[in-house]
Amino acid sequence: MTSSQNYQFAGHDTVALAQQYGTPLYVVSEDIIRHRCQMIRSEFLDKHPGSRAAYASKAFLSMAMCKIIQSEGLCLDVVSGGELYTAREAGFPMERVIFHGNNKSMEELTMAVEWKVGRIVVDHPEEITLLEAIASEENRCVDIQIRIVPEVEGETHRHIMTGQKDSKFGIPLVPEIIEKAVQSALAAPHINLKGFHFHLGSNLFQQEIYVEAVEKVLQLCQQLKEKLGFEVEEINAGGGYGIRYTEKDKPHPPSWYTDAIMETVIKRSRELKLKQPTVTIEPGRWIIGEAGITLYTIGAIKEIPEVRTYASVDGGLPDNVRPALYDAQYDAIVANKADQEKTETVTIAGKCCETGDILIYDLKAPPLQRGDTLAVLSTGAYGESMANNYNRLPRPATVLLTGNEARLMIRRETFEDLLRREREADVE
Ligand code: LLP
Repeated sequence: MTSSQNYQFAGHDTVALAQQYGTPLYVVSEDIIRHRCQMIRSEFLDKHPGSRAAYASKAFLSMAMCKIIQSEGLCLDVVSGGELYTAREAGFPMERVIFHGNNKSMEELTMAVEWKVGRIVVDHPEEITLLEAIASEENRCVDIQIRIVPEVEGETHRHIMTGQKDSKFGIPLVPEIIEKAVQSALAAPHINLKGFHFHLGSNLFQQEIYVEAVEKVLQLCQQLKEKLGFEVEEINAGGGYGIRYTEKDKPHPPSWYTDAIMETVIKRSRELKLKQPTVTIEPGRWIIGEAGITLYTIGAIKEIPEVRTYASVDGGLPDNVRPALYDAQYDAIVANKADQEKTETVTIAGKCCETGDILIYDLKAPPLQRGDTLAVLSTGAYGESMANNYNRLPRPATVLLTGNEARLMIRRETFEDLLRREREADVE
């Protein structure tokens, strides 16, 4: 049964989707993803020849997602053997993969070299030695970028800040340390140092920090050119572009960030007498975040007089850990009552045995009843990809919407899935 009063997402009746596929359910719109990729192309890639945009797959990854990203002409940022394996199984061209990680294992580095990934982003000087050993064994040359810490602080939750000095990621911005790393890369016959990478953090709404970081990198490049004769070819400015979770958020188009970055790159490389490097960006959340919603069914409703009303849903922390981890805020719509007046204030609780399992505090909603469908918005990024099985909740299915069509992208986990690793072990 569909009704025009129900909340429509990407042209689909969300109540009908919940009925067909069950809840909790992740719903992802291919049309929105493609539109966002096209914006990145027209606002950045087409304007700056040689530039690259890599979708940060940690935000949401499936083989079908790899195929969408591939067909949109973007690159892919992976950060583990598992993400790399997924990309390869999806047939994603390995030369368009950028491989990150602050503690890549020998196995992962070997996979990356053997599978000929396009760029390996070195996060620690020792990786250069390890890579040289692997690459010489393979008789192959690997293209690398060195990740530096720009010492720039973004305004975001402290768990998702990365540009600050005290960070586990990247090589500190200390001239002797960086020079040593660059020297060892230049001296390694099977390593081709292309340039530098930085990432400032996630869900950022500031332009000036990107400008500041680019400025620092270019100054570093100039010093390295003078001292070591190293000429930088590319700069990778990471991801981090913020999205709209609630009406308080005022997101920007990609060009808001990239125009500022490019302006600085063009102007400052000229002034510093550097050959203008190409620029790579790595947005994850900005591409997939608003392209996804999560559908739940309302169950128990508990009113504590003069305190608050809790409405519990059939998922929660295991399918969206972000509110508990980062105090992340979300907006939601009661999908089967989308046209009704929002006269109530309710707190949306998950079903886990965990006091902190609250998805939304003080949501304005029409009067709720058991069985209502709740659509939590902007859950496309870091929802499915961070999902877990706490309390042995099976992970939800993901449905992909393409035009008028809805197709299962990832099936729902079963109870038997939860036991599979034990069934295949020695102790039962
Ligand atoms: N590039 C690098 C090197 C990164 O570390 C990240 C994110 C990105 C790109 C993409 O950032 P984005 O454009 O998606 O903001 N789980 C957290 C986010 C952690 C992001 C980690 N790195 C969350 O749910 O907010």
